[in-house]
Amino acid sequence: MGGFLSIRSAEDCVEPRKSEQKARLFLSPPHMSGLELPLVHEAFESNYIAPVGPMLDAFEREFAEATGFAHAVALASGTASIHVGLRILDVGPGDLVMASTFTFIGGVSPIVFQGATPVLIDSDPATWTMDPGLLEDELSTCARRGRVPKAIVPTDLYGQPCDLDAILAVADRFGVAVLCDGAEALGARYKGRHVGKGARAGAFSLNGNKIITNSGGGLLASDDGRLIDRARFLAHQARDPAPHHEHSEIGYNYRMSNVLAAIGLGQLRVLDARIESRRSIFDQYRARLRGLPGISFMPEAEHCRASRWLTVILIDPEAFGADREQVRRALEADNIESRPVWKPMHLQPVFKDVRAVGGRTAERLFETGLCLPSGTQMTSHDIDRVASIIHACCR
Ligand SMILES: Cc1ncc(COP(=O)(O)O)c(C=O)c1O
Repeated sequence: MGGFLSIRSAEDCVEPRKSEQKARLFLSPPHMSGLELPLVHEAFESNYIAPVGPMLDAFEREFAEATGFAHAVALASGTASIHVGLRILDVGPGDLVMASTFTFIGGVSPIVFQGATPVLIDSDPATWTMDPGLLEDELSTCARRGRVPKAIVPTDLYGQPCDLDAILAVADRFGVAVLCDGAEALGARYKGRHVGKGARAGAFSLNGNKIITNSGGGLLASDDGRLIDRARFLAHQARDPAPHHEHSEIGYNYRMSNVLAAIGLGQLRVLDARIESRRSIFDQYRARLRGLPGISFMPEAEHCRASRWLTVILIDPEAFGADREQVRRALEADNIESRPVWKPMHLQPVFKDVRAVGGRTAERLFETGLCLPSGTQMTSHDIDRVASIIHACCR
């Protein structure tokens, strides 16, 4: 309860004193299970210290089994997975691609890598993910103008699946492919199926802050084997079949290493347990912060089982008596990492000239949203430490 004691006045919350240094509580640190190291040893013993090898094959196979996708290819990052995903959907210079505005840049920058133009769609306030109604309006407008987008990249946000069936219904009507950005939502379920399943492809991240990690990596998954074969070909420098190096198109060096696949394999085997822990952390925060005026939690969309990758709260400064930034700084003063929710892409300087469809929902979420520490090694004492500081900020 030291955090609680370190805040005694309103000023402490606005300009917090540095308390004696406690152990840093990170937002979402890696959590190794113990299964990984023997698999890494095995990779070393096989001498497949390369972007090919048995761990990579096993990882792709077990990933497909765990998620229900027919095929998966393991790549260097989530960003690379979205990039290759757009490429195999034939997105190229001059194309339009619709994306969520309330997301991380790794889901949008690959559109620009391909020379295409993003169109940023606002969120539905009920789910915080891409609003299918706004998408439909925009697609109708595009169709009237004779410029239908090439793809749609909705984000499964903070572990919350987007409303994929509604998005697919609209996309199918206009003949547009959907590539789900499931970077933040590995293991989450939408109407009983894994996120992304039903779209042309789903992209996933194993970055160090994700629910499982191999230090850095990604996967592209699909039920269409030809798409994944092509992704694998492009990710390995687009090498044509020949004894020498022969190239008839440009590819990328995007394959995951066999050593990192070994870590990924160990992590994949504890994914379900990690989801249970993240959901439990969310429930514990909700219980500890219940009744505080002005605090609300990210909703769980209907028919979904979110992974609760991060616990996200909204802080209404009027009702709570302190704003999001004051709470963040009070937590930081106690050596606790928290983070504002994503700054919408349409507010990013780099996208200042990009078309945004709506935007106020994402802006409002950005003004008041805070991601709380959600690592699966957190104890209930750690959750108390965070909650007590938030309590102390309330006036
Ligand atoms: C929504 C979203 N898309 C894409 C990415 C990119 O993944 P990576 O960091 O593995 O490149 C991330 C996260 O890192 C993300 O949160």
